[in-house]
Amino acid sequence: MEHRDADPVSQGRRRVLITGAGGQLGAALVQAFGDDLVTALRREDWDVTFPPPAGLPRPDLVLHAAAWTNVDGAEDDPQGAALVNVGGTSNAAALGAPIVAYSTDYVFDGRKGAPYVESDGPSPLSAYGHTKLHGEAAAGDRAWIARTSWLFGPTGHNFVRTMLRLGAERDEVAVVDDQRGCPTYVGHLAEATRAIVALPFGVWHVAAGGDCTWADFAEEIFAQAGLDCRVRRITTAEFGAKAPRPAMSILRSEREGAPVLPHWREGLSSCLEAIREAPCG
Ligand SMILES: NC(=O)c1ccc[n+]([C@@H]2O[C@H](COP(=O)([O-])OP(=O)(O)OC[C@H]3O[C@@H](n4cnc5c(N)ncnc54)[C@H](OP(=O)(O)O)[C@@H]3O)[C@@H](O)[C@H]2O)c1
Repeated sequence: MEHRDADPVSQGRRRVLITGAGGQLGAALVQAFGDDLVTALRREDWDVTFPPPAGLPRPDLVLHAAAWTNVDGAEDDPQGAALVNVGGTSNAAALGAPIVAYSTDYVFDGRKGAPYVESDGPSPLSAYGHTKLHGEAAAGDRAWIARTSWLFGPTGHNFVRTMLRLGAERDEVAVVDDQRGCPTYVGHLAEATRAIVALPFGVWHVAAGGDCTWADFAEEIFAQAGLDCRVRRITTAEFGAKAPRPAMSILRSEREGAPVLPHWREGLSSCLEAIREAPCG
């Protein structure tokens, strides 16, 4: 557990508790909230399916980034996914502080044919999407539900890191070209979270500007990284993932004051720069 605490200057600063601090968003949140008194809890510090460990400092704000994020794995073990994404969110809310609970574009079925805004009704296709939707309710009344999409960052498991590896190994990769969304850089989402906690509670859509397919995204990754690798565009059916995913899940906000994130291409460029600066991250 990393606990940045109390020198005399710390009086009056917010106590921010971050769950899932070992994940890609959690790591970005620890950086973005560096001016606060941060308690950063990784899975080994607190498995959120259990009540919080004794002796935690009482937080003023909880940033709940711990989650079961294996979308295909949730089809095989929906109860395991629910334990983390619903039960874990209840446990984080039970800390008693206002909470930011991160949710997903996969609460939508993708059939709208236009960007989703906060007043659109959710209708998840996958077990993961169902658990995240129930998790939204489990966050309680003093919660900001930050729905985001297609996260990537310099650490952890994500599409950018996978493509960088494959692009260095192969001449060609097959990538899905019939799912459209907003690839969102965790650094930009973490900064936007700072803005969200000054806004009213409720659901907020927080995703990068622009939109693309996974194949478009892969091409841009290879172009920006200078990798000589072709993208072969395939369908979702050809790829054959276990969990169904929405064909079009662009997130936009209709709410006044919602943070506007940079374009996903800008997020990619920041991510690649962060990887160059800390190549082993
Ligand atoms: N990734 C995306 O594309 C995406 C898109 C939309 C929304 N979101 C949401 O954004 C949030 C952050 O996602 P992310 O991409 O940062 O995920 P991530 O990199 O997979 O991080 C999740 C973290 O939660 C930890 N965790 C899993 N089970 C736990 C448990 N029982 N107790 C405590 N910690 C546990 C994981 O630890 P281990 O690594 O040890 O399992 C990992 O460190 C999640 O709510 C996710 O649903 C993600």
